[in-house]
Amino acid sequence: MEKSKTIVITGSEGEIGKSLKKFLESKNHNVIGIDLKKGKNNIQCDITNERQLNLKLNKILKNNKPDVLINAASIIPKIKKFNFTNYDSKKWIKTLQVDLYGSFFVSKICCKYFEKKNSGLIINLSSIYGAKGPDQTIYGKISKGSGYKSLEYSVAKSGLIGFTKALASFYANTNIKVLCLIIGGLYSKKLKKTFIKNYLSKTIEKKMINSEQICKYIYFCISNPEIVSGTSIKINGGADSIF
Ligand SMILES: NC(=O)c1ccc[n+]([C@@H]2O[C@H](COP(=O)([O-])OP(=O)(O)OC[C@H]3O[C@@H](n4cnc5c(N)ncnc54)[C@H](O)[C@@H]3O)[C@@H](O)[C@H]2O)c1
Repeated sequence: MEKSKTIVITGSEGEIGKSLKKFLESKNHNVIGIDLKKGKNNIQCDITNERQLNLKLNKILKNNKPDVLINAASIIPKIKKFNFTNYDSKKWIKTLQVDLYGSFFVSKICCKYFEKKNSGLIINLSSIYGAKGPDQTIYGKISKGSGYKSLEYSVAKSGLIGFTKALASFYANTNIKVLCLIIGGLYSKKLKKTFIKNYLSKTIEKKMINSEQICKYIYFCISNPEIVSGTSIKINGGADSIF
């Protein structure tokens, strides 16, 4: 078994975060979760509150120097019909605050420790919607000026791809690596059958991804961070390779 690493996961009580925590702990790693929600051995904290985050996270990291940070916290807006022209700007800002600013705040803290030992890895979790605009028609019938999948999620997730490139480039010639996973739609029993059918028609694999597959990819990246810094790896069933 490989040497145990200390891995910080934001959004540790979410769908992917929970599976990831369990999976990485089963591989002998020391996992520190951060989430708004209370969870087993996690830090309950709002990552958009930089002051609170600094206090709570530093308190733990002082004695548990981090090796890896996984930015997974997110506000994934609910699928609900909306018009762009009267879209609520508070909702728009909230997603950017959590997915983008929150990832920036947690990265800053972890990089302080990474710089001291000249070693560290950040994995940002982006989405297929960070690379492509959502096709609104796979969610339901649309009329002029309306849609279902909110646009700020795409903005935040493409921001993470940019953040990955800029930060990796900032730390070029060091042993601090930054990479991004562009993840396709996660399968859930709660999803509507028509949505799944429409979504799959846009992929090569004709399969949605599951949490276990995501965990395996992340584990691979943690064990093999060489020559991928600054890149975004697509695990989306070939969703952008078919016309
Ligand atoms: N679920 C998908 O289909 C999918 C697809 C592609 C990419 N992703 C990405 O993977 C990551 C994880 O997705 P998920 O499905 O587990 O999401 P999720 O909604 O299940 O979990 C997100 C977690 O983030 C936490 N969070 C929200 N705001 C926070 C804050 N201010 N401070 C601390 N924690 C906060 C929530 O409490 C929640 O536990 C996200 O970045 C998401 O964009 C998900």
